[in-house]
Amino acid sequence: MPQKSQILLVDDELESCKTLSLLLGQAGYSVEISHSGEQALAAIKKQPFDLIISDLVLPGISGIDILKQVKEDYPDTCVILITGKASTETAVEAMREGALDYITKPFNVERLKIQVAKALEKNRLVLENKYLRQQLHGRYRFDNIIGTSQAMQRVFKRMEKVTGTDSTILILGASGTGKELVARAIHYNSPRKDKPFIAINCGAIPADLLESELFGHVRGAFTSAFSDKAGKFEVAHGGTIFLDEIGNMPQQLQVKLLRVLQEHEFERVGSSQKIQIDIRLISATNVILQEQVKTGQFREDLYYRLNVIPIHLPPLKERRGDIPQLARFFGEKIGKEMNRPQISIGADAINAMEAYDWPGNVREMENIIERTIALTDSPMIKCEDLPSDISKKLPETSMTSTKITREGTDMNQVISDIEREMIQQAMVLGNGVKARAADLLKINRTTLVEKIKRLKIENN
Ligand SMILES: Nc1ncnc2c1ncn2[C@@H]1O[C@H](COP(=O)(O)OP(=O)(O)OP(=O)(O)O)[C@@H](O)[C@H]1O
Ligand SMILES: [Mg+2]
Repeated sequence: MPQKSQILLVDDELESCKTLSLLLGQAGYSVEISHSGEQALAAIKKQPFDLIISDLVLPGISGIDILKQVKEDYPDTCVILITGKASTETAVEAMREGALDYITKPFNVERLKIQVAKALEKNRLVLENKYLRQQLHGRYRFDNIIGTSQAMQRVFKRMEKVTGTDSTILILGASGTGKELVARAIHYNSPRKDKPFIAINCGAIPADLLESELFGHVRGAFTSAFSDKAGKFEVAHGGTIFLDEIGNMPQQLQVKLLRVLQEHEFERVGSSQKIQIDIRLISATNVILQEQVKTGQFREDLYYRLNVIPIHLPPLKERRGDIPQLARFFGEKIGKEMNRPQISIGADAINAMEAYDWPGNVREMENIIERTIALTDSPMIKCEDLPSDISKKLPETSMTSTKITREGTDMNQVISDIEREMIQQAMVLGNGVKARAADLLKINRTTLVEKIKRLKIENN
């Protein structure tokens, strides 16, 4: 059974309050009464109401005051005001302030019932609509970015906070962690979404070309400038510009960028004409910019201008919980792209991927899944289909408890066997690097080297 609508009645005249409350009660609503504006505001704080019917004229806090307060703090509650015949003007003002309707005294019982029912129905539709929109929003917003790990949830929260703003953002993360994906998602969920998103990799363009690439040039500005050309900043006007690998920006361009951020204007190379622009800047780096600030490679003032809102994307090995979902996501996406929608990734393959360190992060994973699907005919990707770095199995262990037999057991031999197995495992896990293997075994490297020699462990 649907819950009864909750109505708060605010009127200082006891008699009319009683009549109205009786009437609404009979009509199936749950009614509470307040005799003053103060009492009403206290009641609203205690419990939510669907509808407030308030007299316009009250001794202290007036009906309009209640209306304003409710609209501000409880926008989901609707308000109907009661006015004497004479004050229709105030009623009009009330509607302007956001009241849903007004009722004139003396009441026409039938009309009043209809008004209340209509107001509640209208409010219900508005709320339902709002709820559906919120759901849609939540579902599609960052739908193509996978991540249930806490680290990624923190990223989503921050993204949600900044999408509606124009704040400058700095995305920090190792190569392949999803920096550009995040930048795009912020743009396409921002009010600038219908304007361009322009990405430039500052590390991929030779320093002497970068200035004209970003800011454009006029004809004759340099030998190969045969005609005027707009730069990316002009093209991005109204939208978002994404400067990747910002740490590679040459010093003299850092000065120019700083000025663009401060004054929203710049000149094309070879021109003195100022061009005004409106852009949102998102930059990204996979190096620690503070270090570059310390060594003087990167301007400190620019660093602070860029780092208004930082977003950290942790390496994949620090959010291993996301690996199974990412693997399935890529399996499905690439399967579809390759016209093999039935492809799936087996549990053993996913286990192996979870154990791997992913130095190239999500990008490496996407590439490996693509390669594996391309090279595998069966509809199920198994562990052994993955590259050997990922699929390699640890040598079977036989380190079960060894019992002394009646003939006696060579303890030194058993210990040597265990040592040998552990060292072999550590060498596999450490990718053949002795220092890593030693770390894993919590012994120092020289001890490990000695043991390898003594136990005649093959070294490959
Ligand atoms: N959380 C994620 N969910 C789904 N796909 C992701 C995720 N993170 C990254 N990707 C995908 O991985 C690839 C690499 O991501 P992206 O290019 O955004 O990384 P990047 O940090 O900019 O890398 P680089 O430093 O190499 O430029 C892209 O194809 C991207 O769509
Ligand atoms: Mg990138």
